[in-house]
Amino acid sequence: MRVLLTGSHGLIGSALAADLEGRGHLVVPLVRSSPGRSGTGVAWDPATGDVDHGALAAAGPFEGVVHLAGAGIGDRRWTPARKRVLRDSRVGSTQTLVAALRRLDPPPGVLVSGSAVGYYGDRGAEEVTEESAPGSGFLADLCRDWEAQAVAAEDLLRVVRVRTGVVLAAGGGILGRLLPVFRLGLGGRLGRGDQYLSWISLRDVVGVLRRALEDPGLAGPVNATAPEPVTNAAFTSAVARAVRRPAMLAVPAPVLELALGREMAREFLLGGQRARPAVLAGRDHSWADPTLEGALAAVTAPRT
Ligand SMILES: NC(=O)c1ccc[n+]([C@@H]2O[C@H](COP(=O)([O-])OP(=O)(O)OC[C@H]3O[C@@H](n4cnc5c(N)ncnc54)[C@H](OP(=O)(O)O)[C@@H]3O)[C@@H](O)[C@H]2O)c1
Repeated sequence: MRVLLTGSHGLIGSALAADLEGRGHLVVPLVRSSPGRSGTGVAWDPATGDVDHGALAAAGPFEGVVHLAGAGIGDRRWTPARKRVLRDSRVGSTQTLVAALRRLDPPPGVLVSGSAVGYYGDRGAEEVTEESAPGSGFLADLCRDWEAQAVAAEDLLRVVRVRTGVVLAAGGGILGRLLPVFRLGLGGRLGRGDQYLSWISLRDVVGVLRRALEDPGLAGPVNATAPEPVTNAAFTSAVARAVRRPAMLAVPAPVLELALGREMAREFLLGGQRARPAVLAGRDHSWADPTLEGALAAVTAPRT
């Protein structure tokens, strides 16, 4: 299979590219052209909408496209300018990508497009599945608009919208930042700790993306989460146990609100979703890391 991939330098994209290439597929990265950056692939600039259409056509035809580009949600404070970057790098980039795919002859067979469980908004302990209505707030609106751009391509090809939970990986993402803190014994729950966290291991999110490419019966929204979401308090205890350190602290909500701004703290850390991967469960999907303890043990195990 020949696969076009955006976000190929990222945590998920680089793991997916390695996995696909290891299985004999050909991955063509769609890379943001920035001066001095080396590497192969076709150039695009999601900020301006520029795509090297000639190079894209020459690199095809593609059986599948995976779209994972998007500026980091938790990397910086959500100033108005940053929120624009977060939106443009997802909503705008998807629009640009879909317009470019329309020019390809033949068109690819499937678009696997990124989204997140943030689609559901802050839902407390309510269980949400792919059939649940979208929530409210900046992240929910962002995911809804991001997905809408992918849905607009459904007349052209099969579209799978992958609503990813928090990805657990030693080398990046939230856990990559938390592990050094927990190893110092300074880990703690955030706020009341009763907000739900829908998580998935890196190898499992790669498995879901690969399945979305290969399974012709999969279309529409798919929650890429492990079967058992946990509360922030349970997650905190599990990480502490995995690194054999105490986690007695609690970071009060006002401290997070002061550090990150109220909106970002409430939506990103103090709120959450209890998402069930109903679509995957209904298709007999199997997870390499179905339990949090197992996933954390795999991530924190010494490398050999
Ligand atoms: N990691 C998680 O826990 C998680 C959870 C839910 C959803 N997701 C979503 O899944 C996707 C991939 O996540 P990830 O963890 O692999 O993210 P990541 O490591 O931050 O990488 C994201 C990729 O987005 C591209 N990017 C960064 N800034 C951009 C900008 N301003 N405009 C356009 N593209 C930009 C980069 O692509 P290049 O440099 O390769 O061009 C980068 O490789 C993201 O859309 C993210 O929102 C991730």
